Amino acid sequence: RRKVPQRDLELEETPMELGGEQGRWEEERLKTASLSFGAKKEREQGMRQEQEKYQLILEEDEMIDFVSTDQDTPALSQAELKKQSMQEVRRSLPIFPYREDLLAAIHEHQILVIEGETGSGKTTQIPQYLLEDGYTKGGMKIGCTQPRRVAAMSVAARVAEEMSVKLGNEVGYSIRFEDCTSERTVLKYMTDGMLLREFLTEPDLASYSVIIIDEAHERTLHTDILFGLIKDIARFRSDLKVLVASATLDTERFSCFFDDAPVFRIPGRRFPVDIYYTKNKIYCYKEQVLIMHPSSCCTFVLQEEIEACCELLQERCRRLGSKIAELLVLPIYANLPSDMQAKIFNPTPPGARKVVVATNIAETSLTIDGIIYVIDPGFCKQKSYNARTGMESLIVTPCSRASANQRAGRAGRVAAGKCFRLYTAWAFKHEMEETTVPEIQRTNLGNVVLLLKSLGINDLIHFDFMDPPPHETLVLALEQLYALGALNHLGELTKLGRRMAELPVDPMLSKMILASEQYKCSEEVLTIAAMLSVNNSIFYRPKDKVVHADNARMNFVVPGGDHLVLLNVYTQWVESGYSTQWCYENFIQFRSMRRARDVRDQLEGLMDRIEVEVVSSQGDSIPIRKAVTAGYFYHTARLSKGGYKTVKHQQTVYVHPNSSLFEEQPRWLIYHELVFTTKEFMRQVIEIESGWLLEVAPHYYKSKELEDSSSKKMPRKQGKTKEELG
Ligand code: CDP
Ligand code: MG
Repeated sequence: RRKVPQRDLELEETPMELGGEQGRWEEERLKTASLSFGAKKEREQGMRQEQEKYQLILEEDEMIDFVSTDQDTPALSQAELKKQSMQEVRRSLPIFPYREDLLAAIHEHQILVIEGETGSGKTTQIPQYLLEDGYTKGGMKIGCTQPRRVAAMSVAARVAEEMSVKLGNEVGYSIRFEDCTSERTVLKYMTDGMLLREFLTEPDLASYSVIIIDEAHERTLHTDILFGLIKDIARFRSDLKVLVASATLDTERFSCFFDDAPVFRIPGRRFPVDIYYTKNKIYCYKEQVLIMHPSSCCTFVLQEEIEACCELLQERCRRLGSKIAELLVLPIYANLPSDMQAKIFNPTPPGARKVVVATNIAETSLTIDGIIYVIDPGFCKQKSYNARTGMESLIVTPCSRASANQRAGRAGRVAAGKCFRLYTAWAFKHEMEETTVPEIQRTNLGNVVLLLKSLGINDLIHFDFMDPPPHETLVLALEQLYALGALNHLGELTKLGRRMAELPVDPMLSKMILASEQYKCSEEVLTIAAMLSVNNSIFYRPKDKVVHADNARMNFVVPGGDHLVLLNVYTQWVESGYSTQWCYENFIQFRSMRRARDVRDQLEGLMDRIEVEVVSSQGDSIPIRKAVTAGYFYHTARLSKGGYKTVKHQQTVYVHPNSSLFEEQPRWLIYHELVFTTKEFMRQVIEIESGWLLEVAPHYYKSKELEDSSSKKMPRKQGKTKEELG
């Protein structure tokens, strides 16, 4: 029955094939990583190879058979669903029969853990039940946190629709740099980071009657900190209800942390999901995704690969033309503009199918109906942190078994489903971790330490962490904040630290903005800060116009480094009157620019609060680069044989091929961030003079360690003229 092209893909349902797999697994993983992020040339070559393979696959008739046999799957029940009224849909959710019991349990207990399968209605329904039950009387709010921006926005939109109100009125959302709420808002969805910041203005969250910490199983850094803070305020705010909502994972641990709070379980409606593993070969997974060519399917890939994956699928559909039923290819990832996101929730037209190409986001935060097949390559991109060197990097790693099972669960919500795992059963059993390590144990803590300090929490060692961060990480965060001048030698918040905490950005960026006051270039530094916050999606590089796009990009290059290039792009865009056409002609993403403008406006709005006057350096780049150095002196690298070495830890790093300084290789650099792909790349670099380090961080750098090994003097850069800066 199952028509899978056996030649290319051997599938098995039971674990077998032990020995000898490990090496191959790792080898293939590495290959994939280099394909996705390697230097441009490597990547293009990889794409070509991919396309060649893909053309071969197209020749196989079996494939078309495989596709067409699937057309009678009941994936289209949404068309019917659409006919029902929204209220009927609400009543059909697994949570609905438990409405009264749930409300009774909430009434009875101050803290309740709620466990339910993804899609059972926790996020969209519970706040509405509470509202209907009177929890918003007297203008009190119900807050619901989400680890992801997209989820906060789309869920709020959905709930507003269900309640027939305008988004931003009774139902709103708040994410960093975007507040879609009003005086009238009583159901407020927000990222966990935003609720954390609300503690600064309202330490007891007095305006809330209920706080729902949703997606608790994700264990993001901010969610973990919220656990400690909310447990604490619940002690003296007996009227506050706290709900900890989670997918079916780890709920006992939550209960245990919250002094044995009861767990309310919502039984899920689940259809069986058959799981298939590859037999003994790991393929490049993008290719596999194509081989499957599924009907209404969800496939998990990494964010930067989504576009390429969608293009390949679309191209393939074009070639098959009318041989197959219409296939909608829909991407979903965190930065996808919301109008595009909305598309995945639209019902599929009759006779058509959809393939959703998703990042982790579809694992639990978003429910997409009608998925029958799941393809799981078994990767995720994870932050990792080296507490010795203070370096943070994003690494592609195998996901955990818990993640894999969540992914599989996305099939089988509307009918029996299948999950194709593009790895062996052996790898699943022996090479994947049981659960994902909580973010708090693998990230830089500078940001939250600063926040906790400004909340008056001085003793961080004894903070009520569900899983404490490694001691060294905490110490390093304190040291970094001390070096930045945010803490004094007793570990107390300084005046500068207090001002830094006012800005909703990382401490280094915050310091850079505050330093712009002294260097009289806040106008430019605000722009740079805003552009850095969207930096990876400014330049647009369509496949068929690569040369034009690269030329356009070259035209923005100014001496000094990438920060100044970003400034130049923004300045020219302002001069064009914020023109869409200008963006189009210059291969700049309009949406990213619009977002940068929003971020900039918001930051500028905060300048009053921290008493920084907005002034321009009038075209002189030295003050700007000094302000960047004042924030990022931790990120200094010095030219050495074959690459760069970080000054403090002598780690070898390289300028990213996309950088404007890739060819120039100046002696001293400051980098904005490190990304590990094929090697450690510095992304967004700016040229500095070593002497500036002594000026901005005299207690951190000693002149001895900044001596150049060669006697050659660094060529002096001239400050740019106004014309050069645009
Ligand atoms: O939070 P949980 O995973 O338990 O479920 P939910 O997000 O409240 O979703 C409940 C239902 O609402 C899902 O079955 C979706 O069909 C629907 N929904 C939707 O259609 N559009 C959204 N943006 C969000 C949810
Ligand atoms: Mg949810």
